[in-house]
Amino acid sequence: MSSQAVNSRFFQSFSRAKRSNMEHIIKICMGSSCYSRGNQENLERIERFLSKHQLEGDIDLRGSRCEGLCSDGPIVEINGQIHGAVTVDTIDQLLEQQLILQ
Ligand code: FES
Repeated sequence: MSSQAVNSRFFQSFSRAKRSNMEHIIKICMGSSCYSRGNQENLERIERFLSKHQLEGDIDLRGSRCEGLCSDGPIVEINGQIHGAVTVDTIDQLLEQQLILQ
Protein backbone atom coordinates (compact mmCIF):
# COMPACT_ATOMS: atom_id res chain seq x y z
CA MET A 1 0.00 0.00 0.00
CA SER A 2 1.40 3.43 -0.88
CA SER A 3 2.12 5.94 1.87
CA GLN A 4 -0.50 8.22 0.32
CA ALA A 5 -3.13 5.50 0.64
CA VAL A 6 -2.08 4.85 4.23
CA ASN A 7 -2.32 8.56 5.04
CA SER A 8 -5.76 8.82 3.42
CA ARG A 9 -6.96 5.97 5.57
CA PHE A 10 -5.68 7.71 8.71
CA PHE A 11 -7.21 11.05 7.76
CA GLN A 12 -10.57 9.36 7.25
CA SER A 13 -10.36 7.60 10.58
CA PHE A 14 -10.05 10.95 12.37
CA SER A 15 -13.47 12.18 11.35
CA ARG A 16 -15.28 9.88 13.72
CA ALA A 17 -16.09 12.46 16.41
CA LYS A 18 -18.46 15.39 16.21
CA ARG A 19 -16.45 18.56 16.17
CA SER A 20 -18.85 21.22 17.35
CA ASN A 21 -18.37 20.82 21.10
CA MET A 22 -14.86 19.45 21.28
CA GLU A 23 -12.99 20.66 24.32
CA HIS A 24 -9.51 20.03 22.91
CA ILE A 25 -7.93 19.70 19.49
CA ILE A 26 -5.05 17.34 18.81
CA LYS A 27 -3.41 17.47 15.40
CA ILE A 28 -0.89 14.76 14.67
CA CYS A 29 1.38 15.23 11.67
CA MET A 30 0.97 12.43 9.17
CA GLY A 31 3.57 13.85 6.81
CA SER A 32 6.06 11.24 5.63
CA SER A 33 8.88 12.33 7.94
CA CYS A 34 6.84 12.47 11.14
CA TYR A 35 4.90 9.35 10.21
CA SER A 36 7.99 7.26 9.59
CA ARG A 37 9.83 8.64 12.62
CA GLY A 38 7.18 7.75 15.17
CA ASN A 39 3.77 9.32 14.64
CA GLN A 40 2.29 6.04 13.47
CA GLU A 41 3.04 4.62 16.92
CA ASN A 42 2.18 7.94 18.62
CA LEU A 43 -1.26 7.88 17.00
CA GLU A 44 -1.94 4.45 18.47
CA ARG A 45 -0.81 5.67 21.90
CA ILE A 46 -3.01 8.77 21.66
CA GLU A 47 -6.05 6.69 20.74
CA ARG A 48 -5.31 4.28 23.61
CA PHE A 49 -4.89 7.19 26.06
CA LEU A 50 -8.18 8.80 24.99
CA SER A 51 -10.00 5.49 25.34
CA LYS A 52 -8.45 4.74 28.72
CA HIS A 53 -9.52 8.13 30.06
CA GLN A 54 -12.87 8.12 28.22
CA LEU A 55 -11.97 11.34 26.44
CA GLU A 56 -12.95 10.37 22.90
CA GLY A 57 -16.01 12.64 22.98
CA ASP A 58 -14.06 15.64 24.21
CA ILE A 59 -11.17 15.54 21.76
CA ASP A 60 -11.07 16.50 18.11
CA LEU A 61 -8.25 14.25 16.86
CA ARG A 62 -7.07 15.20 13.40
CA GLY A 63 -4.29 14.19 11.10
CA SER A 64 -2.37 16.98 9.43
CA ARG A 65 -0.08 17.14 6.47
CA CYS A 66 3.55 18.24 6.80
CA GLU A 67 3.79 21.27 9.06
CA GLY A 68 7.17 22.26 7.66
CA LEU A 69 8.86 21.36 10.93
CA CYS A 70 10.24 17.99 9.90
CA SER A 71 13.61 18.45 11.60
CA ASP A 72 11.79 18.93 14.93
CA GLY A 73 9.47 15.96 14.42
CA PRO A 74 7.59 13.89 15.08
CA ILE A 75 5.17 16.79 15.58
CA VAL A 76 1.99 16.70 17.66
CA GLU A 77 -0.04 19.87 18.18
CA ILE A 78 -2.34 20.12 21.18
CA ASN A 79 -4.69 23.10 21.45
CA GLY A 80 -2.47 25.14 19.15
CA GLN A 81 0.76 24.36 20.98
CA ILE A 82 3.30 22.50 18.88
CA HIS A 83 5.32 19.72 20.49
CA GLY A 84 8.35 18.28 18.73
CA ALA A 85 10.34 15.09 19.09
CA VAL A 86 7.30 13.34 20.54
CA THR A 87 7.89 9.67 21.22
CA VAL A 88 5.93 6.77 22.69
CA ASP A 89 8.00 7.32 25.84
CA THR A 90 6.82 10.94 26.23
CA ILE A 91 3.35 11.06 24.68
CA ASP A 92 1.38 9.78 27.70
CA GLN A 93 2.94 12.37 30.03
CA LEU A 94 2.35 15.12 27.46
CA LEU A 95 -1.30 14.17 27.07
CA GLU A 96 -1.78 13.99 30.80
CA GLN A 97 -0.31 17.46 31.24
CA GLN A 98 -2.30 19.01 28.40
CA LEU A 99 -5.64 17.24 28.79
CA ILE A 100 -6.02 16.18 32.41
CA LEU A 101 -3.85 18.32 34.69
CA GLN A 102 -4.44 21.62 32.88
S1 FES B 1 6.39 15.60 8.11
FE1 FES B 1 5.71 16.42 10.00
S2 FES B 1 6.50 18.44 9.97
FE2 FES B 1 7.09 17.63 8.04
